[in-house]
Amino acid sequence: MKHRATWALCAAGWLVVIGQALADDGSAVFARNCQLCHQTGAVGLAGAFPRLAGRLSVISTKPVGRSYLIDVLTYGMAGSITVDKQPLIGVMPSFAQLSVDDVAAVLSYLQTLGDQSKSPPTPFTPKEVAIGRAQPAKTAADVIAERQTLEKAKVIP
Ligand code: HEC
Repeated sequence: MKHRATWALCAAGWLVVIGQALADDGSAVFARNCQLCHQTGAVGLAGAFPRLAGRLSVISTKPVGRSYLIDVLTYGMAGSITVDKQPLIGVMPSFAQLSVDDVAAVLSYLQTLGDQSKSPPTPFTPKEVAIGRAQPAKTAADVIAERQTLEKAKVIP
């Protein structure tokens, strides 16, 4: 009996360790590839780089929002958008060179930043990213058009 309890405790400990490793992974991908522009904690820079913290958990509640986020990371985006009432014209580079695991990890990490009380996030899986990438190819301009449609539909805050 005592043995079993020790084993269960040990397994629980490992689950915490694994969960932590996954979370760390996404923040490491962010630090390496995104932070320079989107800033520490993904708070953005008014008029230059959009805030992602507190917005990705909202965008990713809808399937169309999730595929949009995967498209942004796959094809990049260029054109004018408005975030936090600040218009900005910028270029978001494509990150098609990242593995599907890294894209899933960084999007899942970004979902956990900011207030999640109204939209508890469902993490992204590598499979979901692979399915998004397998759709017909888009240009950075197509992605802006996709964004405009989602903004009108209030999927993007
Ligand atoms: C060179 C600067 C730069 C880097 C590096 C960068 N981004 Fe961006 N990102 C931008 C800009 C600028 C925009 C807005 C593009 C526009 O105005 O069309 C943007 C837009 C986005 C959007 C869409 C936001 C919205 O409101 O629709 C997401 C999501 C995003 N970036 C995630 C990331 C992630 C994740 C990484 C790292 C893997 C990353 N970005 C790296 C500059 C950057």
